[in-house]
Amino acid sequence: MLQRLKRLFSSQPQPETDGHGIVPDAVPNHVAIIMDGNGRWARKRGLPRIAGHRAGMNKVKEISLAADDIGIKVLTLYAFSTENWKRPTEEVEFLMRLPEEWLAKELDTLIARNCQIRIIGETEGLPSHTARVVQDAEEKTKANTGMILNIALNYGSRREIVAAVKQIAQDVQEGRLSVDAIDDAAIAERLLTRGLPDPDLLIRTSGEVRLSNFLLWQSAYTEFWFTDVFWPDFSREHFFQAIRAFQGRGRRFGGLK
Ligand code: IPE
Ligand code: IPE
Ligand code: MG
Repeated sequence: MLQRLKRLFSSQPQPETDGHGIVPDAVPNHVAIIMDGNGRWARKRGLPRIAGHRAGMNKVKEISLAADDIGIKVLTLYAFSTENWKRPTEEVEFLMRLPEEWLAKELDTLIARNCQIRIIGETEGLPSHTARVVQDAEEKTKANTGMILNIALNYGSRREIVAAVKQIAQDVQEGRLSVDAIDDAAIAERLLTRGLPDPDLLIRTSGEVRLSNFLLWQSAYTEFWFTDVFWPDFSREHFFQAIRAFQGRGRRFGGLK
């Protein structure tokens, strides 16, 4: 009410918002999320860590649909890092079963929503049962033209960059690329995110304030939003809160406003 009165009397025209206070014309194109805090969520409840991972898995649909509802074009979710293999075998094995479980339940909804599923990460390093289901989901949705749900599975940004550097070296050695032609675009198009816009907004749950080897190159000008909420407690409303915060930021990209 107060907001509306203020708007009526303000000389500045205010952008129209939807029912969540989000300005539809200024929705970020690409949002990336570090879904962190499953283990601590479980510990707080006296449950095993894997119970936290299952609860976390059950949040992925809610947030994916929320992103699609407000018109986000790309949603990248960090599901498993190249460093997460350091965890106990039982935990890793459990995590590697979750894509199958999740896709068996949710793939039809994503297809009905015209979503395209992509995987970034080293699929060669995944157990074959995991690789099979994620490749099948990519195959079945590759012609879809709606939101891209980009899942980072066995993903590590440094290895991604190392692989790009190796490709460039090889292209130079074999005469396909000159040293002078190596520029930002030459690197970007050799990353796993090739063809996707850089993330506009990166969300990390659970109170940790670091990137943990996620999208290092791509997040050069990304806006960061951190919350103490553990991923299994992260809701649609928290997600919209992050989007509103993003819409209140002034991005300058090194220039002046
Ligand atoms: C995120 O939750 C899920 C993965 C890294 C696979 P964590 O398992 O890291 O949870 P915390 O950080 O131990 O609470
Ligand atoms: C990052 O979280 C990876 C995922 C959320 C998949 P971690 O829990 O592995 O990160 P660190 O170890 O706390 O930096
Ligand atoms: Mg963690």
